This record gives sequence, C-alpha cells and structure tokens, in this order.
Amino acid sequence: MFQTLEARPADALLGLIRLFAEDTRPFKLDLGVGVYKDEAGHTPIFDAVKAAERRLLETQGTKSYLGPDGDAGFLELLGGLVFGSIWRENATRFASIQTPGGTGALRIGADLLHEVLPQRRIWLGLPTWPNHAPIFRAAGLEIATYPYFDLATQTVQFDALLSALDQAEPGDAVLLHGCCHNPAGADLTPEQWAQVADVIEQRGLLPFVDLAYHGLGDGLEADLHGVRLMAGRGAGVVVAVSCSKNFGLYRDRVGALYVLTPDRATAAIATSHMAGHARTSWSMPPDHGAATVRLILEDHGLTRQWREELEDVQRRVSGIRAALAGHGQAGPVDLQAVGAQKGMFSTLPLSKEQVLKLRSERAVYMADSGRINVAGLQLADVPAFVEALRSL
Ligand SMILES: Cc1ncc(COP(=O)(O)O)c(C=O)c1O
Repeated sequence: MFQTLEARPADALLGLIRLFAEDTRPFKLDLGVGVYKDEAGHTPIFDAVKAAERRLLETQGTKSYLGPDGDAGFLELLGGLVFGSIWRENATRFASIQTPGGTGALRIGADLLHEVLPQRRIWLGLPTWPNHAPIFRAAGLEIATYPYFDLATQTVQFDALLSALDQAEPGDAVLLHGCCHNPAGADLTPEQWAQVADVIEQRGLLPFVDLAYHGLGDGLEADLHGVRLMAGRGAGVVVAVSCSKNFGLYRDRVGALYVLTPDRATAAIATSHMAGHARTSWSMPPDHGAATVRLILEDHGLTRQWREELEDVQRRVSGIRAALAGHGQAGPVDLQAVGAQKGMFSTLPLSKEQVLKLRSERAVYMADSGRINVAGLQLADVPAFVEALRSL
C-alpha cells in the first residue's frame, strides 16, 4: 500500500544546512537558519529560562494530565502580556488554548475557521512564511492571496493590498503578521494598520494575526500595536502566539491561540471546539515549556531578567541592521531598506543565479528566495557580506 506514495520534495532549508556544514572554506556565512544566533554564533538558552526550569524541576509534584487546553496560568499570563488592558477588561470573552508552538496555534485556528467561515476562505499576503498555505489548506480552507511586499523596491504594496481586500467577501479571514514579517522584515506602519482595520471592519472580515516574533522588532510594547488595534476594534480577532523565538524555547514547542468572541458564552463554546481539535491531534500540549513561561511571567524578578535578555536579542538584531544600512547600496541591494526592516528576516532582491554565485564564490549561504536571517551575521562579518554583495 505505501508503495503508492511518491517522495515529497526535500526541505530546501534543511538541504542548505547540510551544504553549509560540508563547506570546508575557513570563512563562511550561514544566513539560511531560521533561529536567532548571538554574537558568538550560538542559539542560547535565556538565563531566565534556565532559572525557571530549575525551579520547575524542584517544585513540580506530578506529571499527570492537564487537559487539552493546557496550563491555565500560562494562558492567563501570556494573554495579559499580549493584550494588556484589553485582556484585563475582556478576559471572559477570549477563547484560548495552549498549543505546541505557533504552528499548533495556526492549525487549531485554521480548524476553527473551517467550522465558522461561510466561504471557508483565508487571505494570505505574498510572500509569506512557506508553512502558512499548507497549514490552512490542510484544515480544508481555500486560500486567496493579496500582494504584500515588492522585492525589487523593498516596499509594502499597500495600495494593491487594500484593493485586493476590497475583493474579499464578508466572512473571509485575513492573515496578518503581527510584527517582524517573515520573510520580508517589512511591517505595516501604525497608519496602515488603522486603514487595514477599517477595511476589515467595513467588509465584515475576520483578522487572524500570526505573532511569532513578539519583542524582536521594536520591543515588547511597540510590537503589539497591530494585534491590540485589531483586538480593540471589538469585531473579533484570532491571534496565534509563538514563544519559540522570544523565549528561545523552539524545541519545547510553546504557543497559544486566542480568539476574541462577542461574549462569555461564545468564548466557552469556541474553547470547547478548539479543545476538540487538539484532542484529535496531539490531545494535550507538551507541558514543560509552557510551565517554564508561566514561572517566568508570574515572578517579577524572572520577568525582568527575561525582558532584559530579550532586549539584548532585539538590540543585537537592530544593531546588525544598522551596520548594514551604513553601507548604503551594495551591488543590487539597498542596505538602507534592509536597515529599516524589523526582526530576523529580510528578503534581498537577488536572482537565484546571484544567490548561487554568493554560495559558490563567497561561501555566503541564504535561501534560494534571497531570504536572509540577519541574526546569522556577526558584526565583524558585515564588511565581508557587503563586499560579497558588491561583487555581484
Ligand atoms: C511567521 C511564522 N509563524 C509561525 C511560526 C511558527 O513557529 P513555532 O511553531 O516554531 O512556534 C514561525 C516559525 O518560524 C514563523 O516564522
């Protein structure tokens, strides 16, 4: 029976990791990785996480089941962190569930949308994280697309975005990146968020915000502008939160889905549906990482420590961007545009031939799309990287 299966294409980024590892040249740059790296090239464990884990180890009295919606304290504290006063004033209107990473939250959100959207359709901006469309399709949703970012000019195609959303039908969902757009690095300005919120409201659409890089752009408060604006409009919002990057808990799989509903009764019903979807896939989310986040967020000292460590991460990413921007135009790339972008990713306006040339001649590794992880650069690497771009 299984012989009817055909091999799926290999994951291009995993192939890139292997090629990089096999490259024996003394100077090489890995800008393909999807994780944060510090100035020493490591993906560190936050000290606040280590401290919370030690506390967890000492105090945890049982590993009995928690239930499909996970750790209630984690959901409460993360909800407060993300939604602020909107959470405090409307906590009962939120349906929520702890999930394995942001991916799990996106999937449960997709399953829920499949139950409620009249046309079962979601609009994705292009380009977007390559896993978005497969997740929504796997839940049975139809994908429609709106233009988001123009590579050549490195700008958000805002007018085209608005015209596309004018074609959406009432009851369609619209996926938005909360901050630090992956792969473009270009976020909506506060004015643009307001305009998108207006269109969403006027056309009766449902905003679905993917918040995977909270704190890595302009900081914990500023990065929430879009999420809170959408939640504040009161027409309902779905938010998938990932703690992979901002707590450095990638492999522990920590995330949550929040859905703002009209009232307490609807929230309870929606939560029961979300729990039902979890029950038929992973049943219950992994506990360790979420319990660690809860311990951090319920302790002022640990919270302060985590915030400081996250600020270091944010400062390093911004510092690399500023260093790049200082070099102006480098070959086909306007590094000032890259400097103005946020978070770990940018996509350079390079052809596949140029990407392969950088790989073969300069040992600079990036995705074929031209996406780079700026956290893959150390400050000392910046001149060599710029020089490689100038050689194109
Ligand atoms: C835009 C975006 N959304 C969601 C995720 C999911 O992250 P995770 O499932 O690892 O928490 C990622 C991870 O790279 C991402 O880039």
